[in-house]
Amino acid sequence: MEDKPALLRALAGETMARPPVWLMRQAGRYLPEYRALREKAGGFLELCLTPELAAEATLQPIRRFGFDAAILFADLPLLPLLAGFDLRYAEGEGPVLTPGKGRSDVTVQVAATVQRVKAALPPGTALIGFTGAPWTVAAYCLEGRGSRDFATAKTVMFREPARYQALVDRLTEVAIEYLVAQAEAGADALKLFDSWAGVLPETSFRQHVIEATRRLVEGVKARTKVPVIGFPRGAGFLYHDYARHSGVDALALDPAVPLAEAAKLQAVLPVQGNLDPIALVAGGSAMAQEVSRIRAKLGRGPFVFNLGHGIVPQTPPEHVATLVALLRGDA
Ligand code: CP3
Repeated sequence: MEDKPALLRALAGETMARPPVWLMRQAGRYLPEYRALREKAGGFLELCLTPELAAEATLQPIRRFGFDAAILFADLPLLPLLAGFDLRYAEGEGPVLTPGKGRSDVTVQVAATVQRVKAALPPGTALIGFTGAPWTVAAYCLEGRGSRDFATAKTVMFREPARYQALVDRLTEVAIEYLVAQAEAGADALKLFDSWAGVLPETSFRQHVIEATRRLVEGVKARTKVPVIGFPRGAGFLYHDYARHSGVDALALDPAVPLAEAAKLQAVLPVQGNLDPIALVAGGSAMAQEVSRIRAKLGRGPFVFNLGHGIVPQTPPEHVATLVALLRGDA
């Protein structure tokens, strides 16, 4: 079908002459219009949970750069908020979670954001919904905040497996409802961020990343047909088993995945990635060379161009414009 968004064609396994492009964290502080909106919203949580404002944040990078996909503006700790944790954002630190009462209106607000964005997007631009994958969300819940190694969360996983599993079961149940609501509201694809997959040893990775993702994906697939992109950041050699056994439809690759391995993974599933976000900060010929290296190696199979992790706040917006022009062949 000619008018099917390029992103969905690539995720369905088609090799595109020009790869579709979007960037993780394409909305955010590197954009002056985001900083103004954030100011207006007051708090970050208000921004995420007010559909009018969250839709505006989602659309800002689409208006400026014309990406092939928008990603819902929300945040990973909204899932614990739905599962009975309280959430606040500490200045300069990021999300802080504590056991509490949570909020029951999260899904309603987020679904309203999805509907608004969907109505405003050009037909060729896909809308991606998302949540955190079970391990990464459980890690934030148990640790209470970000961490370099999530040692507290891992200790619970090792020492109190029943408590760990009960939390994951609850989060999985909530995540299925949350993702299905996003799909029903108009999300064309869903992404699972397992940002801390890389801190687990093999056995834990197999059980708590691959198997936990498989259960979540199975629950979602029983109720909706939208494709699921999995991002087991830092999985290293285990990317191969994740590709075969997690049930996801496409793989997001972090910047450390060698392109020769990426090409092997692409024989199993469509891949997305994996420019280093700092190459985007640097710009110029270094960025251009990385882009052509990635494209030369992955452009001959089903491929979505992206960063290997999120845009960082010091990224010059002009470099993003140059990147998009390079990929479209206008630069
Ligand atoms: O443009 C987009 O990608 C959509 C929105 C989005 C945000 N967070 C907005 C955000 C998405 C998809 C996320 C996912 C997310 N959030 C992840 C997984 C992806 C990854 O980066 O690995 C994680 C681990 C989080 C948790 C989180 N949220 C942290 C650690 C922080 C603090 C660090 C930081 O960048 O400030 C946040 C806050 C956050 N989420 C911001 C944005 C735009 C910045 C908040 C602000 O405006 O001050």
